[in-house]
Amino acid sequence: MPSGFLAAAYIAASILFILSLGGLSHQERARRGNIYGIAGMAIAIVATVSSDQVSNLGLVMVLMLIGASAGIYVALKVQMTEMPELVAILHSFVGLAAVMVGFANYVDPSVHFEGVEKTIHDVEIYLGILIGAVTFTGSVIAFGKLRGLIMSKPLLIPARHFINLAGGLACIWLGAWFLDAGSVGAGLFPLIIMSIIAFAFGVHMVMAIGGADMPVVISMLNSYSGWAAAATGFMLSNDLLIVTGALVGSSGAILSYIMCRAMNRRFVAVIMGGFGTAGGTTSSAAEAGEVQAASAEEVAEMLKNAKEVVIVPGYGMAVAQAQHAVSSVTTKLREAGVNVRFGIHPVAGRMPGHMNVLLAEARVPYDIVLEMDEINHDLPNTDVALVIGANDIVNPAAQEDPDSPIAGMPVLEVWKAGTVVMSKRSMAAGYAGVDNPLFYKENTRMLFGDAKDSVETILKSIT
Ligand code: TAP
Repeated sequence: MPSGFLAAAYIAASILFILSLGGLSHQERARRGNIYGIAGMAIAIVATVSSDQVSNLGLVMVLMLIGASAGIYVALKVQMTEMPELVAILHSFVGLAAVMVGFANYVDPSVHFEGVEKTIHDVEIYLGILIGAVTFTGSVIAFGKLRGLIMSKPLLIPARHFINLAGGLACIWLGAWFLDAGSVGAGLFPLIIMSIIAFAFGVHMVMAIGGADMPVVISMLNSYSGWAAAATGFMLSNDLLIVTGALVGSSGAILSYIMCRAMNRRFVAVIMGGFGTAGGTTSSAAEAGEVQAASAEEVAEMLKNAKEVVIVPGYGMAVAQAQHAVSSVTTKLREAGVNVRFGIHPVAGRMPGHMNVLLAEARVPYDIVLEMDEINHDLPNTDVALVIGANDIVNPAAQEDPDSPIAGMPVLEVWKAGTVVMSKRSMAAGYAGVDNPLFYKENTRMLFGDAKDSVETILKSIT
């Protein structure tokens, strides 16, 4: 393909990626955003594969076939609740690819630079491998934590900040050594040592982060994977990879910032780790006394008699796949003149936008699905707040108990409603491992059982 066509194709793909990100920022345009992204990636792949840079087309085709088959298999098999794990493991591939490309590029005898250009190229290789290695092991650990293979509580080894600082300083010193090395043979040693330190740092960094901070970590690793891809683009002199990597890197960083704000956490504090250490020990909950259970039929009666209902979905709704039953209940109540709205916490579920996707799939109208900040001030005027499989995001301890591990995290203030119904299977804590005093409040009714069964029974009782 002539270089002019390649440049034009890369510009078209870049524009489509930007349009895709713009589309994904709103659920009504998200489908279109996905189509832009698919089109951009298709153009990018076809243009790259047919460019002069590809010398062994047969091998590339075979590898693409293997990769695409694995991707199709995983995409068909993955459950909605497993999405964050999938994202984490995909980030790890990007990190590993950056490490491998970095080493391959460094030892490739056909890649030859002199003077300042060589220094710049070596810096690109060094940074690409460094970011890629941290992304790789950090993402593998994040995958293990989300999958439950590794404990979600933070691992806080003594002097951990000192260890991190020492590792960082060692990487700077090794970098200077690497840039000074006169030959590939001499440069490989500091490069390999730095890679080992970076792999270890990725493990240590994510092991030290508690379960409740995992959403931020996932988007931070997303950002790292973007920067690793951009560094790879510099190494390979591939403009599209630089642009795409920078888009992923900066959008991941912005998302991390938004999520930190949503959880009232400082980004640096998240990365330093330790959130959730004291999880599961709220004595106030234990002292608060008895819980009051209600049957699904009783809850149906409450809902029918209400004027204002707010439904707060959480991770349990995703586990139970209760969204279709929830949608049907919503339709029935709206037909009966009840004003039903949804309150969505920014970190409800296990990934950003998790609840919005499920509700959109179940055809709940977008205009009644509101963000936490939009609905919180209406909760005191709400007759019934129906919490379906949510826990941490409605935990008043975040506001009432300064010693709680989730103290300061913004929550949906459902306890201000006339009655709160909590649909869950047991008295178990949520993801952060923190007890919830809401269960014991006077206006709370516990609706025990699988969320789908409970909501289906409510549906039968209101029709
Ligand atoms: P959680 O606090 O995890 O609570 C979910 C509740 O659902 C559990 O207490 C569980 O109680 C209940 N549940 C599970 N299966 C159920 C079923 N089949 N039927 C009915 N209930 C069921 O969820 P949340 O309130 O959505 O909060 C999200 C948490 O995940 C936050 O701590 C957040 O930081 C974290 N997190 C979020 C993300 C993103 S980006 N959203 C990513 C990773 C982690 P029972 O066992 O008693 O039923």
